[in-house]
Amino acid sequence: MPSPEAANRPKIIAGNWKLNPPRARGLELFGEVARRVADTPAPKFYGPGGIPDVWILPPSPFLGMFHELTRGGGVPARIGIGAQDISPSDFGAHTGETGGGLLFDFGCGIALTGHSERREAGETDAIIAIKTLAADRAGIIPLLCVGESEAERDSGDMLAVVERQLAAVVGVLPTDRPLWIAYEPVWAIGTGRTATPEQVVEVHRSIRDSLTRGGRDGARTPILYGGSVKAANAVSLLAEAEIDGALVGGASLDADSFLAIVEAAGLGVSTGG
Ligand code: PGA
Repeated sequence: MPSPEAANRPKIIAGNWKLNPPRARGLELFGEVARRVADTPAPKFYGPGGIPDVWILPPSPFLGMFHELTRGGGVPARIGIGAQDISPSDFGAHTGETGGGLLFDFGCGIALTGHSERREAGETDAIIAIKTLAADRAGIIPLLCVGESEAERDSGDMLAVVERQLAAVVGVLPTDRPLWIAYEPVWAIGTGRTATPEQVVEVHRSIRDSLTRGGRDGARTPILYGGSVKAANAVSLLAEAEIDGALVGGASLDADSFLAIVEAAGLGVSTGG
């Protein structure tokens, strides 16, 4: 049974730029999104004072610039910037790492942990749990990515895999600390194959139940879907009360496509262009 609160969870759209684009194009893209997202108040549901509901997660060299633009005004308060990854360490002799203290200082409000591209690069559930704690320690909301491979879905292990990925984090993060989830089936990421709303709803319900069993407020946890979200499929996915938003990769690199998804989520886009 969906909780009565489900209908009240505001939608969240996050653009994961991955390792794209070059500098000039990135500045242009951020500027265009900032200009066209309607400057209406961010929802207060997920935290006191309002939390942005449109997020840009650029490669880290952009963060300082986008933070300055955000602080300078002209970027709607409903747009937040976030990190695609976070070091397990806060500061110190960790060549090549970017820690939560700096990410927070440079304006990151959320950080992905457990993205499948990082799991494929060797990150284990244990490392992902440590990174999630590092984000929380820095005052950054972790957006934990979970999802099964095609073989795991075909073999019927899908819900168990997602449960295992969740449990690694839920077991260590205090239940009163914020945690957002992105369900991203690996077979749908960057492939053009989107999960159907029914497939997503089934897993989201299971995730919400797992969170609740782990002592968290599953009904108030934002659970986003990611995997080949485009303007064309966003409407049917985001119409589901169970689906609290989208983590968008490829389509976030084009302002028109990304803003069409923002609009599909019912979040305002200005017509001024
Ligand atoms: P995609 O990527 O939208 O290009 O499939 C989603 C993601 O990896 O977050």
